[in-house]
Amino acid sequence: MDEMTSAWPLFALRLATPRLVLRPITDDHIPAFIAAAQSGIHDPARSPFSYPWTSVPADELPANMALHVWRTRARTTAAQWTLPFGVWNEGELVGMQDLVAADFGTLRTVSTGSWLRQSAQGRGIGTEMRTAVVLYAFDHLGAEVAETEAASWNTASLAVSRAVGYAPNGSTRKSWGGNAQDVQHLRLEPQELNRPAWTLEVGGHDGVASFLGLGATVRADS
Ligand SMILES: CC(C)(COP(=O)(O)OP(=O)(O)OC[C@H]1O[C@@H](n2cnc3c(N)ncnc32)[C@H](O)[C@@H]1OP(=O)(O)O)[C@@H](O)C(=O)NCCC(=O)NCCS
Repeated sequence: MDEMTSAWPLFALRLATPRLVLRPITDDHIPAFIAAAQSGIHDPARSPFSYPWTSVPADELPANMALHVWRTRARTTAAQWTLPFGVWNEGELVGMQDLVAADFGTLRTVSTGSWLRQSAQGRGIGTEMRTAVVLYAFDHLGAEVAETEAASWNTASLAVSRAVGYAPNGSTRKSWGGNAQDVQHLRLEPQELNRPAWTLEVGGHDGVASFLGLGATVRADS
């Protein structure tokens, strides 16, 4: 364990799928994280994000993204946390897959958010990375429910949810991407998960479980 992972055990977490490595991003990763976003994530005419963080003037994006990483990390406690996974494919940081929980000890519920640089979209990576974090949540953290939501027009995000096994769980009208949007909610329980043919490799879990106060309820590293 190096000095940073002994201070912040989340940095030691590593999930691996056949094509991807997912790790909570460190400060060293922030420039590549910004470059991935700057290369383009979506049609600028319409934001797929509840908070339209990509719509700021281009020169404000880098500092905003760095602040987001630091703010998310600083707000992470055992009760309320975000695992902000960077997603690497063939050694390149291609996007993000967040796994988020509030009052996890009581609710045993996680939610997710994600994006990929456009050059990495449409190749099944979005499905693989969401499957990875949901497997980690159910099989290692002891989650009982995974929830997510997307603008009702976001066919790619909704198709990922469907492929992973989520079922529709109602819709609401919300302020989304700076406009009023119909937002689709989705819900998944472990028995509904479309388990992949591959096995998720997990490293660094024990320190995370201890940090999150999960102790004996979780599985050890595979
Ligand atoms: C949403 C996102 C992460 C999905 O990742 P992806 O790697 O492109 O998705 P996949 O290649 O795994 O595709 C999964 C499914 O979506 C479908 N799909 C992918 N892109 C699509 C598109 N533009 N339109 C319609 N369907 C699409 C695929 O056909 C596949 O469906 P299937 O399982 O029925 O074959 C990615 O497209 C993205 O970053 N979009 C912009 C940001 C965003 O919308 N984030 C989510 C906010 S809620």
